[in-house]
Amino acid sequence: MKKGTEKKKPLKKEKEQKSKKEATKEADKTRKTYSVLRGMHDILPREEKYWKPLFHIAENLAEHFQFGRIETPALEEAQLFVRSLGKGTDVVEKEMYIFDISEGKVCLRPEATASVARAFVNAGMWNYPQPVKVWYFEPMFRHDRPQAGRYRQFSQVGYEIIGALDPASDAELILISYNFFKDIGLPVEVRINSIGLPDERERYKAELANYYRNKKSYLCDDCRKRLLKNPLRLLDCKENQCQPIKDEAPQIVDWLSDESKSYFMKVLEYLDELQVPYVLQPTLVRGLDYYTHTVFEIYPSVEEEKKADGESTASSAGGSSSAGAQSALGGGGRYDLLIEELSGKPTPAAGVAIGVDRTVALLKHYAEKMSFNLPKPQYDIFFAQLGDRAKGCGLKMIDDLRKSGLKIGFNLYKNSLKTQLELANDIKVPYALILGQKEVQEGTVIIRDMESGIQEIVDQKKVENILKRKLKKFDVQSK
Ligand code: HAM
Repeated sequence: MKKGTEKKKPLKKEKEQKSKKEATKEADKTRKTYSVLRGMHDILPREEKYWKPLFHIAENLAEHFQFGRIETPALEEAQLFVRSLGKGTDVVEKEMYIFDISEGKVCLRPEATASVARAFVNAGMWNYPQPVKVWYFEPMFRHDRPQAGRYRQFSQVGYEIIGALDPASDAELILISYNFFKDIGLPVEVRINSIGLPDERERYKAELANYYRNKKSYLCDDCRKRLLKNPLRLLDCKENQCQPIKDEAPQIVDWLSDESKSYFMKVLEYLDELQVPYVLQPTLVRGLDYYTHTVFEIYPSVEEEKKADGESTASSAGGSSSAGAQSALGGGGRYDLLIEELSGKPTPAAGVAIGVDRTVALLKHYAEKMSFNLPKPQYDIFFAQLGDRAKGCGLKMIDDLRKSGLKIGFNLYKNSLKTQLELANDIKVPYALILGQKEVQEGTVIIRDMESGIQEIVDQKKVENILKRKLKKFDVQSK
């Protein structure tokens, strides 16, 4: 090789590298980092330990109380919610994600009760055995001002009973909601009221507006607007200056007919029998127009919040938990006129929806403060491997054992045996399988007793039965 050419080569390479570097720099300048949209959040795998038990509890309750799963599309005709929830409600007025498409205005569902009612009418579910009981676990969308516990996309687990006008159905829904939180171990409080029928409510609204009109100059700005637009929402105000006025306001219960009152009393009697504790809250009216008679909400228990936070911090309003002590975890009630409003045959109904994101936020809060133990996934064995050939053969073994009903922990991307056995210890399995190059060649595998450290070499073909026998999982006859 000539000397001159030897020197030229690295120079050319250097030049190429330099221009490559410059090109990368230019590309970096134009490359954008994308963030999750405001009010939305990713649910990462590390949060699965909170979400999964909630789904299972929701599903178990649904099975036990005989609710069938319903899934409705996330996109619906916008008018469905305008008619169901009411024009003047916050959700319809300010919070819907609406799009114009060639067929007209559509929106991402802000809640699912209207969707379920639409599905009931579309499928003519009057012809099904009554009542129809359905449940869902779905994302909802509300373009609200984001803050603690308030997201623009959030999931709800909901239960709806359609076709029963019976106080027992209200009690059943409240019992399910209460049990949902009890099964997770979260202390909650049920707040309940009755808002009667529309004509009773209209008379009450007039009286309430009359009462507030005389005190207009003492009201906060929002309440002045509410007085004009939707007087019932005056009862939602959390501003200090409006509290004394709210405390003295007329109560809806005094405007209910005898039938409405006795319906409500029956619901409360059932709750007493079921030993579901509740707090009567005369100012509870809910923010959606479709409700009739019983309305209720579930809140984190104030007493338990205090215990978890220590008395000193709990007194600061709403600041005690990231979930926000003042945010409802769930809410529901009767909606006897909704199916008819959606052009269906008159059909009484009631339901509840629980906010899953808020529940998870509260679970995390308790987990930090009270070393709250959530159920962990249970594995039967751990699989550890040494070397490339053991990985391929091991993946097949893992899959075969999975198909036979065993639950196997493994991490094929850790090469050290020590690290893998530490992982096995973390998930508390009684046995680990160890597969090295030698075992692959001989068609064997090592079973290690994690407690005693004793190891035995077994034929790969027999490992499934040996493990099942050791784990006393199933009745197996040795092959
Ligand atoms: P809702 O009170 O509007 O009722 O919502 C139920 C629950 O969803 C709330 O208590 C809360 O936990 C959660 N939630 C609502 N908005 C948000 C948000 N922006 N971010 C996080 N969580 C939120 C309904 O949706 C009715 N469809 C309930 C119902 C079912 N009524 C009869 N059947």
